[in-house]
Amino acid sequence: MATSSNIRNKVQSLRDALNQHNYRYYVLDDPDIPDAEYDRLMRELEELEKAHPDLVVPESPTQRVGAEPVKGFREVKHSVPMLSLANAFGADELSDFDKRVRERLSFSGQLDYFAEPKLDGLAISLRYEKGTLVQAATRGDGSRGEDVTHNVRTISSVPLKLQGSRVPDLLEARGEVFMDKAGFKALNNSMSESGGKQFMNPRNAAAGSLRQLDPRLTAERPLAIYFYALGECSESLAKTQEELNKAFRTLGLRVNPAARRVTGVSECSAFYDEIAERRESLAYEIDGVVFKVNDFELQKKLGFVSRAPRWAIAAKFPAHEEMTRVRDVEFQVGRTGALTPVARLEPVVVGGVTVSNATLHNMDELKRKDVRIGDLVVIRRAGDVIPEVVSVVKTKRRKNVKKVQLPARCPVCDSEVVRMDGEAVARCAGGLYCKAQRKQALKHFASRRAMDIDGLGEKLIEQLVDRELVENPADLYALNAETLADLDRMAAKSAQNLVASMDKSKQTTLPRFLFGLGIREVGEATALALAMHFGDLDPIMQAATDELEKVPDVGPVVARHVHQFFAEQHNLEVVAKLLKAGVTWPEIAKTVSAATALQGKSFVLTGALANMSRDDAKAAIQGLGGKVTGSVSAKTSYLVCGDKPGSKLERARNLGVPVLDEKAFEDLIQRF
Ligand code: IVH
Repeated sequence: MATSSNIRNKVQSLRDALNQHNYRYYVLDDPDIPDAEYDRLMRELEELEKAHPDLVVPESPTQRVGAEPVKGFREVKHSVPMLSLANAFGADELSDFDKRVRERLSFSGQLDYFAEPKLDGLAISLRYEKGTLVQAATRGDGSRGEDVTHNVRTISSVPLKLQGSRVPDLLEARGEVFMDKAGFKALNNSMSESGGKQFMNPRNAAAGSLRQLDPRLTAERPLAIYFYALGECSESLAKTQEELNKAFRTLGLRVNPAARRVTGVSECSAFYDEIAERRESLAYEIDGVVFKVNDFELQKKLGFVSRAPRWAIAAKFPAHEEMTRVRDVEFQVGRTGALTPVARLEPVVVGGVTVSNATLHNMDELKRKDVRIGDLVVIRRAGDVIPEVVSVVKTKRRKNVKKVQLPARCPVCDSEVVRMDGEAVARCAGGLYCKAQRKQALKHFASRRAMDIDGLGEKLIEQLVDRELVENPADLYALNAETLADLDRMAAKSAQNLVASMDKSKQTTLPRFLFGLGIREVGEATALALAMHFGDLDPIMQAATDELEKVPDVGPVVARHVHQFFAEQHNLEVVAKLLKAGVTWPEIAKTVSAATALQGKSFVLTGALANMSRDDAKAAIQGLGGKVTGSVSAKTSYLVCGDKPGSKLERARNLGVPVLDEKAFEDLIQRF
């Protein structure tokens, strides 16, 4: 029986709605329905298609996964070659590039360039016929690549069908497939749990994921795409790179929100600096900035040299990975006693910073990478994270390298080292008897997101513990300015300031206090959940494990840690002393209303703030329940604007989005 036109229409309208929501989510970064609603629409469509298989078409949003595994990759010849880019290192080479271009064009003024981050993924060419995705091919050698259509279809930010009323008959859109940092980390974690091989970096992970024969595996990998270039096209879509970007967006092809037109070499440099500064806080890895002559006519005039266009350049950032030799491996003791093997290295400059230590995470990791003392290793430094040893250069291994042994006793306090069954980490059994654990516990207690004792840094804590002035957090509040002034690097004034900030820290919140106690597995979110559920400290301290497990997200392990913590006489004494010293908090209702004070509000940050890093500003907003997004839209609640704002300021003004300067932003977050 033919399917009724009613159902046909319903199926079509569900597809349109899903495509529209996808577009808002991935391209505009401005979703207007919750994820659950999207899932509901998808399920409805799936059910209708199941009941009416004759209605299923390959470009339906339900058809991303489901293709059968392939036997191998078919070769695809690119109709327009996929080029590579020449590199520039440093400001001089960038300005040489601009000079060369202008000389060739006999142009003495300032040229417009289109600038965008250079993503560290892999280039891909997608062919749309009459608006439907028909083929996806890797770059390969630039002339011939591999057909990976079955896999690319599973990437949710790739539209299976183009949007809008002016869709060309034939369009080849080119871009970069990549895995963001969070997705990469999660993938490697799950690979290591299942005993699989880890990927070296997000680029390898993206490449490995695209070269799967089974699309169901690719579908599980967190891949994404940004489009940046045109291959074959049946129409003239744009006269400039900037217009092309706009046209892509209109067609539903996601473009990098950080891309924009700049004028002259000085704005190129400023863009480079701006992106370099944002590099660590970007969600994905980049290795430089690409500048393209904006005008397509001029691009044509400039042409190519050996597979690279004369009209574009990749201005590269300093590398994140370098090689050096391991001098020794030592074990550091953390807050919970975990022993972390740390490689002491011959100092090497990685991404502009000298690195002489790198973490090896734990014994399993050390064994897996087979790192030995004396080995030549690859070191990686990404952002604020601790540098790590990526791999050993086995071909350069010397004969006299030494294997690393887990010590039987704690290198700090000589207590026994124990390793629980099934745990990757080995721990010092000394607890707070161990000075290393004590120092870390105090550092955690004083940290910004716990009791926030301004001015009590690592070096001071070390002295306080080493001189046996402080054993537990409660002892901190017994310190006076005189004692503090005696410490290295302290004077009367700084000692007084520290006493004042310790006093100030006593006015806290219950979640901060709970978090600061350093109970295993109790992070900020769990501390907040416990506080909200029980309302005050006493009931938490007295709760049995089954009562604790009633708290959202608290499972048996967390419940046991909380219960054990408060069963320990020593801990009860510390808590009592802290309360006696005057630590206090307002009733939980007030704290909770602060935690949700900015709920439903979305913020965008631009420019540099004088008193706060971007990460701190972000954390402050999120701590109050707000959201931080990357680009300004009509739905943005506030633009927080620091020094040297980018184009976001103009956009916010055009859209009538309220702009907060640093002072106004500080006032806002301090109100709660
Ligand atoms: S434009 C002819 N833009 O860099 C110009 N490339 O080294 C075509 N890449 O194979 C490339 N981000 O994989 C362009 N925003 C970006 C890019 C980018 C990364 C990669 C691309 C290309 C390689 C060249």
